[in-house]
Amino acid sequence: MYSQKVMDHFRHPRNVGEIKDADGIGKVGNPVCGDLMWIFIKVKDNKLVDVKFKTFGCGAAIATSSMITEIAIGKTIEEALRITRQNVADALDGLPPIKMHCSNLAADGLKAAILDYMKKNNITPPDWVKIEPEHEEKCDV
Ligand code: FES
Repeated sequence: MYSQKVMDHFRHPRNVGEIKDADGIGKVGNPVCGDLMWIFIKVKDNKLVDVKFKTFGCGAAIATSSMITEIAIGKTIEEALRITRQNVADALDGLPPIKMHCSNLAADGLKAAILDYMKKNNITPPDWVKIEPEHEEKCDV
């Protein structure tokens, strides 16, 4: 059902934990299944120099959280804002269709952390950024 990459990131998640002096924090959750995620970012010279996560959720949510930290580190703020759940799923060699919604947590969590950073630093988000998280699908575990 799951790719080897999903299983690897689930069993050995990268960048787990908190950043104590984070520049931005994103918290997103799914009200149906109760899965919850925090993403912490550290920004320097407009680039994400560190990204960590804490996820209380299913295996796919943990694997996508782990993968998005690897994708995002080193990217500029704008590049990181463009990361989609499809990018995350592709980097994991796909997710079962019933689990695609889980990758919303990771994409929305990162976006929320970046928007938090922008707000704290009086930076206006680009027009193309949807402010509201897109994680509204039913979480049919
Ligand atoms: Fe709800 Fe995966 S995020 S089951």
